Amino acid sequence: MLRYLTAGESHGKALLVIVEGCPANLSLSDAEINKELERRQQGYGRGPRMKLEQDKVELFSGVRQGKTIGSPIALQIPNCSTEFFEKAFTQLRPGHADLAGILKYNQKDARNILERSSARETAAKVAAGAIAKRLLSEFKISLFSKVVQISGAENEKDWPTLIDQAAEAGDTLGGVFEVTITGVPAGLGSHVQWDRRLDANLARALMAIPAVKSVEIGLGLAVANLPGSKVHDEIFYSKDKGFYHKTNNAGGIEGGMSNGEPIVLRGAVKPIATLKKPLQSVDLVSKKPTQAFVERSDVCAVEPAAVIGESVAALEIANALLEKFGGDVLEDIQTAYQGYLARI
Ligand SMILES: Cc1cc2nc3c(=O)[nH]c(=O)nc-3n(C[C@H](O)[C@H](O)[C@H](O)COP(=O)(O)O)c2cc1C
Repeated sequence: MLRYLTAGESHGKALLVIVEGCPANLSLSDAEINKELERRQQGYGRGPRMKLEQDKVELFSGVRQGKTIGSPIALQIPNCSTEFFEKAFTQLRPGHADLAGILKYNQKDARNILERSSARETAAKVAAGAIAKRLLSEFKISLFSKVVQISGAENEKDWPTLIDQAAEAGDTLGGVFEVTITGVPAGLGSHVQWDRRLDANLARALMAIPAVKSVEIGLGLAVANLPGSKVHDEIFYSKDKGFYHKTNNAGGIEGGMSNGEPIVLRGAVKPIATLKKPLQSVDLVSKKPTQAFVERSDVCAVEPAAVIGESVAALEIANALLEKFGGDVLEDIQTAYQGYLARI
């Protein structure tokens, strides 16, 4: 089982993550993780912070002489920008975790909620996802992601203008990203128990990305409005391909299991909650109406959300792969994997 746990605050010393269950003998370097971290920092509409941060990973354990040794992999990503850590605020931001977090944790300073609810934490997830992607590449499983919509517009030529206009107006925008996973054999996940369904685990991982409010697999919501004849992917067989489909409306998953077709996921990202032109709110202490707190912020974060989606999907696929083929040593997993491919 591949599992991971993150720690760290947005403007604290560092983000940390422990990845447990990565098999031994996988080659792994800082450079591969840093490449993914750099992708997460990109995107039109990012705030000034991403220019300040130079996300670079420091590996503490689980790797020796460039290869994993089967023990937990611990790593950290130091924060360059820590100057806001002591800055208190009480003007609760609509759409953020401030209000619910303050009530739940009995806090007097919304900074104590912001620091952990901030999507800065996703740097740790992307670092963990880079390890999963490295493992999956040994099995020729690849992940890709892209933005498919910004604020309803599908033509990417329109996106910079839309984002610039929103920034000018002190507003923010959301959108939709898509993750595609190729090379996944049929049979990852399972129909036999709810928490082994691959679709459920992928959806949960994507929904756990801050600001993601809806997840689709394949046709997604559209299935509700179409007849069965237009939804279900007919099955074919040929000697060289084996079983296959000519369409992929299911997005590569049937019965909670991969069906051999590319897995296609979409995530809808809401507009950023911190608006330069602040929304109406209430002050936590005075209980009087106030404008919401403003701190330097992104205008649109759909592009990094796509990279994060790819990372958390990689972790789920890697976990399902290890569940099916065992998890201690890369060579044993490969033997089991090849044997399975030969059977199906
Ligand atoms: C990559 C990324 C960057 C984000 N940047 C910001 C930001 O700069 N300011 C902000 O208010 N929210 C930002 N968010 C969204 C908040 O983290 C999120 O809305 C908040 O934690 C509340 O969680 P919820 O939207 O899931 O309810 C970002 C989200 C992502 C995925």
